[in-house]
Amino acid sequence: MEQEELRLDTVLKVKGLTKTFRRRGRCVSAVRDMSFSAWSGEVLGLLGPNGAGKSTTIKCILGLVQPDSGEVEVFGRDAMQHRRECLRMMSAVLEGSRNVYWRLTPRENVRFFASIQGRDVRRETERLEGLLHLLGLGDWVDVPAMELSQGMKQKTAVACALARDTPLIFLDEPTLGLDVETSIEMRGMIRHLAEVEQRTVVLSSHDMKVVQQVCDRVVIIEDGAVVVDDTTDNLISLFQRRLYRVRGSGRIDGETERQLREIFRNIGLPDVDDDSFLLEVEVARPEALYDLMDILRANGILVEGISQDEPDLERAFLQIIGREEGVRA
Ligand SMILES: Nc1ncnc2c1ncn2[C@@H]1O[C@H](COP(=O)(O)OP(=O)(O)OP(=O)(O)O)[C@@H](O)[C@H]1O
Ligand SMILES: [Mg+2]
Repeated sequence: MEQEELRLDTVLKVKGLTKTFRRRGRCVSAVRDMSFSAWSGEVLGLLGPNGAGKSTTIKCILGLVQPDSGEVEVFGRDAMQHRRECLRMMSAVLEGSRNVYWRLTPRENVRFFASIQGRDVRRETERLEGLLHLLGLGDWVDVPAMELSQGMKQKTAVACALARDTPLIFLDEPTLGLDVETSIEMRGMIRHLAEVEQRTVVLSSHDMKVVQQVCDRVVIIEDGAVVVDDTTDNLISLFQRRLYRVRGSGRIDGETERQLREIFRNIGLPDVDDDSFLLEVEVARPEALYDLMDILRANGILVEGISQDEPDLERAFLQIIGREEGVRA
């Protein structure tokens, strides 16, 4: 915590943010005492189940929702006291991409959003055209946004946010509704913004592949509160399941299976016949693999190959929010 306070490259600091909505006489704690920071040149992922409070957090930071309490600092400036100044540093694509003008074309939209940032649109034509092409809007630049498909509208919304060329960018579900190819392109672009342009991107997504590939750090939110704030790599290795797939020849008979089940709680035999098998074993300690080999050898079974499950953020996430059980054995 101390280390975080001292970082000079802090772009965004959220401290004790709290927001309660009143709905039909009931109180909904959307954001509860939330604190986190984002640093220059990093992609920070906000993760959490539906209704966890991700969008509300982003809206509070942008001043679109008035928090009950808490502080937001953008480049060291209090965002509530210096709202206009801070808003010039931030751009956002919110849920439903409502930041696009439906009657304007993508080209007109990006020019408009660049100009409200006070940029010289004529001198920046190349950059803005590049942005439209980078997002695969090349053939659609002159079509009014209301005539575009959902994915094209989403891309136009992202282009408009990037047209403002701000150092801090919020993307609420940026790949929602995008086809596979475009989603991959979008991921590449987000990494480019952080790595090459040293911008800070805060994104929310339910797509774990996207989060795993683009986020340097992840803040997991549940019921409006931060439950985990760590690097993506740490989270993956912390929760990496030691699931081994063992392939071989010989017969895993009832007795062998019984011996295996005595030691390992999670075993599966998805493919087994009289002279070959595929065995899946989850182990808590890597040394347990020796026990596995001993049992197979003692039963005259030949091992032909072993592979391990790929690291997976999705599993880490599910375990953290308690939707999947951990390994006990
Ligand atoms: N304007 C509002 N009025 C009343 N309640 C609201 C309002 N906006 C959000 N909420 C409530 O606040 C909670 C958090 O909602 P929020 O939209 O921030 O979640 P989220 O994490 O973005 O979810 P999702 O993954 O579904 O987008 C939910 O219980 C939601 O119903
Ligand atoms: Mg949301």
